[in-house]
Parts: sequence; C-alpha cells; structure tokens
Amino acid sequence: MSLDVAAIRADFPILERRIGDHRLVYLDSASSAQKPQVVLDAMDRLYATSYANVHRGVYAIAEEATAEFEAARAKVARFVGAPEAREVVFTRNATEAINLVAHTWARANLGAGDVVVLSHLEHHANVVPWHQLAAERGIELRWIPLTDDHRLDLTGLDALLDGAALLSVTAMSNVTGTIVDVPALAAAAHAAGARVLVDACQSVAQVPVDVTAWDADFVAFSSHKIYGPAGIGALWARAELLEAMPPFLGGGEMIRDVTTEGFTTNDIPWKFEAGTPAIAEAVGMGAAVDYLTAIGMDAVRAHERDLTAYALAALRDRFGDRLRIFGPPDADDRGGVVSFLFDDIHAHDVSQVVDEVGVCVRAGHHCAKPLMRILGVPATSRASFGVYNDRDDVDVLVEALGRAEAFFAL
Ligand code: ALA
Repeated sequence: MSLDVAAIRADFPILERRIGDHRLVYLDSASSAQKPQVVLDAMDRLYATSYANVHRGVYAIAEEATAEFEAARAKVARFVGAPEAREVVFTRNATEAINLVAHTWARANLGAGDVVVLSHLEHHANVVPWHQLAAERGIELRWIPLTDDHRLDLTGLDALLDGAALLSVTAMSNVTGTIVDVPALAAAAHAAGARVLVDACQSVAQVPVDVTAWDADFVAFSSHKIYGPAGIGALWARAELLEAMPPFLGGGEMIRDVTTEGFTTNDIPWKFEAGTPAIAEAVGMGAAVDYLTAIGMDAVRAHERDLTAYALAALRDRFGDRLRIFGPPDADDRGGVVSFLFDDIHAHDVSQVVDEVGVCVRAGHHCAKPLMRILGVPATSRASFGVYNDRDDVDVLVEALGRAEAFFAL
C-alpha cells in the first residue's frame, strides 16, 4: 500500500526549490505541511472568478462563494466521519477550536472543583486554556502520566476520571508521535460521566479519523497540517452540544436578531462564526481534503508507519546510544514524528547544521513544555514526515546528522 511519492512530489511546487546546491528535504510537516498545486489553484480560482462575502449577498458571485464555502464544510465533515456538516464549525486553527470549547461549553458548565483530565502529552493549546479556566473558576486539572516509553499510563485512569467533567487529550503527540487509543479513553470517560475533547491536529494528517467511531464529543483540528492553507481549522462537536452552548465571539453572522435590548443567536454552525470568515482558506481546506481522500488515508497511514519504522531503525543503526530517540519504540504505536537529541549537542545547533544541506527539521520545546520537563530535556530536534517524503529523505537526514555530530566533535 505504498504511495507513489515521485508523483506526489510533482504536485508540490515548493519541492522544486533548492537550498544552495541541495534539494529541499522538508521534514517539518508536523509543524505545517506544504501545499499541493490543487490547493493553491482552488484558492486562486475562487479569488479570480467567484470571490465575494458569504451568506450576505444575493448576487451570483456571492451565491457561488457561499456554495463553495458550504461545500468545503461538507467535505471536511465527511473527511472526519461527522454525521452532519452543521456539526463542523470553522475556526482559525485547532487552538481556536479548543479555546472555543473552553470559552463556551466549559464556562457554561464548569465551576469551582469541577475536574478536567489532561495528559502529559498535551500541546500548550490543550493546556493553557484549562489553566486559564482553573485560575478564573477554580477547576481542578488532573494529568494522565506516561509510561517509560512515552505512552499514556492508564493504570490509574479510573481514579483520574472519577468525578471528572471533561477528558481532553491529544490523539497523537506532536513530540513523541505516540498514538493514543481514543475509543478506549472515550469509553472510560463516558462511563465516568465526562465529556471527551480530542486534539486531532496531528492525527488528522496521518491516520483515518472518524469522530463517530471515536465516540468523542468535541474534536479540534486545523487545515495547515493536512496540506491546506493556514488560517483555518475546525471544531467538530455533537449537534446537541453545539445547540446548547453559548456563542463564542459576538458580531455579524452569528446572530438571528439584534435589538437595542439584546440579541438572539443564529443556527449552528454559524452561531460560532462571527465576522467574515476565511473564505478562500475554507475552499483550500476542502481541496486539501479532496487531495488526501484521493490518496486514501489508509495508504497515508501505511506510508507514515513505514517511513517511521525506517527512520527509527536508521537512526539507531547509525548513532546507537549517542542519540536519544523519544517515544514508543515500535512504529505501530506512533505517527510520522521522530524527536531526538544528541546528549552533548543542542537541538537548535543540530537543526542549523542539517539546514546547510537542505534538511528542514524543527528544534525546540514544540509547544509542549510540560512534556519536555517530563522527558527531562529543554528541547529536541524533530523530523516529521508527510506524503511527499520517502526513504531517501530519511537517508539524507541521517547523513546530515552524522555531519552535525562530526562538526560538534571537533
Ligand atoms: N504544533 C505544531 C508543531 O508541533 C506547531 O510543530
């Protein structure tokens, strides 16, 4: 089930770029993926032929723009297995989607002493909104710890969930690549009477996501990780929850009526979409979903797994114990993200040296400082794989790391 990477590469104009004498080896898709020409074309076409504001004009191009915007919503809904398109709220990104839940559902339902359960794998986007709520409302945060190989340690899960109102967890770590068993966690949370929010920002690009099979209540993700434009993401939530939640931002589009005395809200999802939305970006996100659907998410997952297994083996063979690799040892348990660290070379230095031969890897705390503290490191380098990467890219990375190691040994 391997991908035709040569054909896929030809779809991404940026991959023709050279960095000095070197081809671009882009290994930072977990941060933001590159865009295929079909996504760029979809956005250009809208601007060139049908651009107008949505849900406001009655003239032809306004109706065309509205139809394209809503068609994109339907595509996104199908892509994540949502029962209804109206359950998909467009947001700026996954961060805003999680904040939307924290500001609306959580502020309507949680007070002092209520419990939100997080995990030690979480990105700041799924930590800070809950710290803010704790400071404002006195909610209690509990944390699912990690095993030695950086999986969730579920031995104490029942006690953590006892009396909890919400379990909010990532489906895949952006640092360790750990894939989380969302259906099992959701079942345990629901049995304890808690709602379930899933940060699917990484997994939506790498594994087939089905919010119905997950049995989640809220799922947050963004477009730029799935080869679509930045500036748009989505919150999926059960219709009955969205109906009951108060609105988020106030302004145009989210209202049914406004008087000098007050306002009433629009139907979902528009109740949560105040102001002119990112119209071309939504259309681009729809095109990205079409692109991934044509490749097939099962094939994408098989490809990510294969590349990850290859990278883990290649790094271990070449560097042995000199290179710490974080996350579960088996590629079956992880997505296409490999964080690593030479004990005596700073992650930023490594990333700069490999950049000299055209290799792009992220270095830093990856917006996961609680996890960094548990790993006992201030930063890691991280290679992450997309549909356009192949084993040659991993080989180039390994060679470049060898060069970095030799350089800093001098
Ligand atoms: N969350 C993104 C990353 O992991 C930005 O790089």
